[in-house]
Amino acid sequence: MLRTILRSVYRRLQPQPAAAARSEPSPIPSVPLHMDRLFSLQGRVALISGASSGIGLHIAGVFAQAGAAVALAARRKEQVVGAAQALAARGHAATAVYLDVTDAQTIGPAFDAAEHAFGAPVDLLFNNAGILYASPFVDQDPAEVARLFDTNLKGAFLVAREAARRMARLQHGAIINVASTAGLRAGPRLASYGAAKAGLIHLSGVMALELAREGIRVNTLCPGSIDTDMHRVFRDFGFEQALLRRIPQRRIGSVDDLDGAALLLASDAGRYITGAVIAVDGGQALSWM
Ligand SMILES: NC(=O)c1ccc[n+]([C@@H]2O[C@H](COP(=O)([O-])OP(=O)(O)OC[C@H]3O[C@@H](n4cnc5c(N)ncnc54)[C@H](OP(=O)(O)O)[C@@H]3O)[C@@H](O)[C@H]2O)c1
Repeated sequence: MLRTILRSVYRRLQPQPAAAARSEPSPIPSVPLHMDRLFSLQGRVALISGASSGIGLHIAGVFAQAGAAVALAARRKEQVVGAAQALAARGHAATAVYLDVTDAQTIGPAFDAAEHAFGAPVDLLFNNAGILYASPFVDQDPAEVARLFDTNLKGAFLVAREAARRMARLQHGAIINVASTAGLRAGPRLASYGAAKAGLIHLSGVMALELAREGIRVNTLCPGSIDTDMHRVFRDFGFEQALLRRIPQRRIGSVDDLDGAALLLASDAGRYITGAVIAVDGGQALSWM
């Protein structure tokens, strides 16, 4: 007995090179990184609001290629039907749903239609529908301001709330609210647009706080100047050159510049990211000249 104890003590006192090596942190992750799996949306059901044109239409295609079943939602039904058919023809699961974010009666049915089409609940929302009116503050028309807030803030709130209630039942989900650099810093002619987007950024933060324990991540994507129908307003005003001077990268972005950030926030690659505000703007939010 005594000999056994002495032998065990002796063994413990011997140098143990293997144990020493184990304590060194390895630079190589123990589980190999599979980039395509990390950013995959396989098995996910996404609803994209404002998917009839521009950023929403493009991101619907990106999410579909990453493996999600996508519901393209907007008021212009022919546009979303055409886009969903084009995606389906390429082998993706896609459907078109009618949604007017200013009409609360259409929001629940849009989610129902998406769930019915795919036989599974929506667990990814790209909350993107928006409009822009740009004019000097003193000239802003109250009716236009009301429409803008109804769409870009109240509409985004109503769609996010519907998504959050449904995702809470699943205890998982991701919501990406699409704001703007105009919500991060003041821009001429963008008083009410910027105020609505700043409100959406704040709303996202509160949502992230309250929904984290329901397994729902909420993040905000702030595009800068992206070449879409909406952006063309600036070209029409002759503002594009002035805008370019405020963008450190000195170029207007294209919709595919948003792919990386959107996929990061949507996929498991972003599993520990919630409450983040990501500007994709060529540095515009930093620049004041
Ligand atoms: N392009 C930029 O430079 C830029 C920069 C920062 C942020 N953003 C934001 O990015 C988002 C997308 O804009 P975009 O540039 O892609 O412009 P866009 O091509 O004009 O797209 C706007 C989308 O919003 C939809 N929409 C508008 N009102 C709606 C409503 N009441 N209900 C449902 N859908 C509605 C439109 O669809 P229907 O008309 O068919 O309903 C359309 O699909 C907006 O939130 C915008 O504020 C854009």
